[in-house]
Amino acid sequence: MTRYATLCAPAWPNPEGEHITITNTPGNVFQDYADSYDALYSDKDYETECDYLERLFRRFGQRDVHSVLDLGCGTGGHALPLSRRGFEVVGIDRSPQMVAIARQKAQSEQSTTTPRFEVADIQSVQLSTTFDAVICMFAVLGYQTTNDGLLATLSNARLHMKPRGLFICDFWYGPAVLRQQPNNEVKIVTDGDARIIRITRPELNVNTNVVQVAFHMLRLQADQLIQETEEIHSVRYLFLPEIEFLMAQAGLELVDCCPFGEMDQGTSEATWKVTAIARAK
Ligand SMILES: C[S@@+](CC[C@H](N)C(=O)[O-])C[C@H]1O[C@@H](n2cnc3c(N)ncnc32)[C@H](O)[C@@H]1O
Repeated sequence: MTRYATLCAPAWPNPEGEHITITNTPGNVFQDYADSYDALYSDKDYETECDYLERLFRRFGQRDVHSVLDLGCGTGGHALPLSRRGFEVVGIDRSPQMVAIARQKAQSEQSTTTPRFEVADIQSVQLSTTFDAVICMFAVLGYQTTNDGLLATLSNARLHMKPRGLFICDFWYGPAVLRQQPNNEVKIVTDGDARIIRITRPELNVNTNVVQVAFHMLRLQADQLIQETEEIHSVRYLFLPEIEFLMAQAGLELVDCCPFGEMDQGTSEATWKVTAIARAK
């Protein structure tokens, strides 16, 4: 397919006069992207998001939360601060590259207790433990683009929850995606002495409820292009009745949906990112 074909020659050659081009397919994401992930999201305030999670635990939990399973943990953005705060955390991610970075960060922690990170698929991973809370943060649920994938993920989350345990996730809210439409975007960040330019081109498919997001990344050092990659990320947007239905099928009771970062507020076409809170039935 031309979409995943080798990219055009870049405008800036590296010192050897060559360029490096790596292409990815939709099932092969968060590979090369992992190297730039923390730099690209250095503006994301994971500590504040963990404050929010703790508020949700207190507000909606019917049992004290001591243990947390982080599904799609990435580079440990939530798992590491939660562990520092005294929670017992296990993080699962299918990207070996993301997990390697999370483990490296855990190793450099001062704390004696750090999360356990495992490479596995959240739709099928089987751990021998259950948890007081399961979290699935930063659109991880949306990366499961089919009904089967969503149901497998929610059912597997439920399997790993203690009685009356909490499930918390965020997702792209269908009415807002359709109303606002995803836009092209350019983000430029620094990563040590390198500069990363990320060009985002989303394509909305209103029949599958999936946005195909093409991330075209250029890594420059001293204005020389040293790496060029493209990854296509497919993200499903969701509507409240379908998420409620899928959760019920998985043995979860949806107890609240609110704009991400908020509590006790309704969702609307203005709310792109929504938090769903559910309890084990
Ligand atoms: C946008 S990142 C979010 C990472 C992390 N939760 C955060 O907040 O920074 C999505 C992550 O979900 C992981 N992921 C998506 N689908 C997965 C699956 N089926 N099994 C395991 N990991 C998955 C990806 O590998 C990626 O690390």
